[in-house]
Amino acid sequence: MTSTALSAPSRSLLRYLSRGVNSLKHRHEAGVTHFVRSYYESGKPATGCQAESARTIDLRSDTVTKPGPLMRRAMSEAEVGDDVFGEDPTVNELQQHAAKLFGMESALFCPTGTMSNLIAVMVHCRERGDEMIVGDLSHLHIYEQGGSAQLAGVHSTTVTNLPNGTFDLDQLESKIRHGYPDPHYPRSRLVCVENTHNIQGGRVLPLAFLKELRTLADRYGLMVHMDGARVMNAAASLGVPPADILQYCDTVSVCLSKGLGAPVGTMLGGPEDFVKRAVRARKALGGGMRQAGILAAAGKLALSDMVGRLQDDHRNARSFAQALLQCDPPIYQVDLAAVETNILRFRVSAEGVSPAELCARAAVVSEGEEQALGQGVQVLMFPHVGGSVRAVWHLGISEEDTRLAALKMQFVAQQLARERARAH
Ligand SMILES: Cc1ncc(COP(=O)(O)O)c(C=O)c1O
Repeated sequence: MTSTALSAPSRSLLRYLSRGVNSLKHRHEAGVTHFVRSYYESGKPATGCQAESARTIDLRSDTVTKPGPLMRRAMSEAEVGDDVFGEDPTVNELQQHAAKLFGMESALFCPTGTMSNLIAVMVHCRERGDEMIVGDLSHLHIYEQGGSAQLAGVHSTTVTNLPNGTFDLDQLESKIRHGYPDPHYPRSRLVCVENTHNIQGGRVLPLAFLKELRTLADRYGLMVHMDGARVMNAAASLGVPPADILQYCDTVSVCLSKGLGAPVGTMLGGPEDFVKRAVRARKALGGGMRQAGILAAAGKLALSDMVGRLQDDHRNARSFAQALLQCDPPIYQVDLAAVETNILRFRVSAEGVSPAELCARAAVVSEGEEQALGQGVQVLMFPHVGGSVRAVWHLGISEEDTRLAALKMQFVAQQLARERARAH
């Protein structure tokens, strides 16, 4: 097979595939193939199509979006002040708007979701020996460097995340240390849930689960924090206002910089006294920003104008999933019922083809592709936990991009079949 020149995102993807795959949770994804290396290391230009004419469809994450002209204009025209003094009018407006939207007393503009989750843990678990209970596949537990232990001194115990992002409430109950004040135990203070659930493929937590969780938490005097980085996707999927979901939580962290398209920012919502303490924790972590209105202006647009289009991402993710199932030969496995929002996880069942190799093939333009598809198409995706591939939709991906990406996956399926036939 012959490669062609690569776009910058493709080069960085292949660099990632060549070194980062080993760090994924499941080691069976660790096989970085000769195929991947030869593409990246050879840097050989292609015979065949011109890379300049190739379409790059970046499905690596919904964090890759770039602000459009309206958002940039709002940023450049934002009224600003010193937000550490509480004097930035645009930040204040954003915070008020977010609190209302979430049905909470107050909200705080934070630089990132990681910091906002950490602040929540710090404020809820204030006493030495406090503990939080968290899903074993949650972002908080896996992808935040253990910040709650490292920086906040908070012990975690885990419950097993089920494929739909929930966990068994009996298991949760068994983990609660109700022996306090027995000095052997940490003191359970907080339960964290994630909605939508990232690793489990953008799954939406059912309202009935959240309601039961609330009842259990109240029985033991526990706080509930939701890592709602994508809770607006959950709300769009359920067709309810976010406040209907968040009524079961004490606090929430909602990212503006994912499907909502802002360049920076996460809103941390909760009761007023919680947010007052959160302001102090944010400052201690170095997250007190000054003329942050420039960023908050983008956040205001994210929470107003960008919410309505999340359904487009969900529809595109689903139509891509359906197209994968129709590929011939049928090498892609998808659980359609699990495609609820903008994140899709699927598997490849072609013999000897790892998720990393599939991603590498999708990311480059191959010989004969222009002729088959009408143009070169580079689809960027990441290998994911459990031997899967993850693809994420966002405002940079149109219906037409989705259609082309599906055609590319069909092309790759046939390419693999041809190679296999030649080898036998
Ligand atoms: C579920 C979830 N929570 C938290 C975060 C952290 O957000 P940030 O990248 O802004 O720190 C992410 C980022 O992808 C996420 O997916």
